[in-house]
Amino acid sequence: MRPKLVVGNWKMNGSREANAALLTGILAGLEGSAAACAVCVPSPYLFQCEQLLQGSKLAWGAQDVSTQPGGAFTGEVAASMLLDFHCRYVIVGHSERRAYHGESNALVARKAQAALDAGLTPIVCVGETLGEREAGETNAVVGAQLDAVLELLGKDAIAKIVVAYEPVWAIGTGKTATPAMAQEVHAQLRTQLRACNAVAAESIAILYGGSMKPDNAADLMAQADIDGGLIGGAALKAEDFLAIIRAAS
Ligand code: PGA
Repeated sequence: MRPKLVVGNWKMNGSREANAALLTGILAGLEGSAAACAVCVPSPYLFQCEQLLQGSKLAWGAQDVSTQPGGAFTGEVAASMLLDFHCRYVIVGHSERRAYHGESNALVARKAQAALDAGLTPIVCVGETLGEREAGETNAVVGAQLDAVLELLGKDAIAKIVVAYEPVWAIGTGKTATPAMAQEVHAQLRTQLRACNAVAAESIAILYGGSMKPDNAADLMAQADIDGGLIGGAALKAEDFLAIIRAAS
């Protein structure tokens, strides 16, 4: 069985005071949990994470990264800077970035590559909109999103990525994919990974994201190809995030 991984995606939420309370609360309840866990926070708070989480079981990371190593790119954050704050993970291709910042499959692939080159683990997000699901295009859409990354990274590098399936219609809406619906897509993603690297495909974590909560986490993560969660709203409450980590353990 693959080890489970639970990652909080804080999105654009937090303050120094609120983060301190949240992180302290999570750390206090982590004792005895077997699942690996992390929080992906807004970049200004990476230093705070490093200070509070160093040496703990809770890893940290960012929510986006530049394709560029440095230089005249106003507003961008380089992978080497994330590493400077001892990030382990960076989310790439979240549907909110694809939708609001026009990120293409090709750009997301280049971000994944930049993360890997720096020694970070990219969490590559894929997912279909409601319209795409209703048009029967789910497999084609998520397949193309993953393909762009696999093609650029190549078969040897893919062992080092995490994939997150996040149906867009389930994000922040309280509508979760049923375990069977999610499993169907996860199985397809695993098959696609196998075609690229059969050995690596068995160990790559494929997380589910989209309204995962304490009351549905265990059922989702009991599916054969669901290896954990990428958690938005429920990651902002220590109690709920801990309950999901326990469900994964
Ligand atoms: P949600 O967000 O858990 O609030 O639906 C998940 C995500 O966007 O990563």
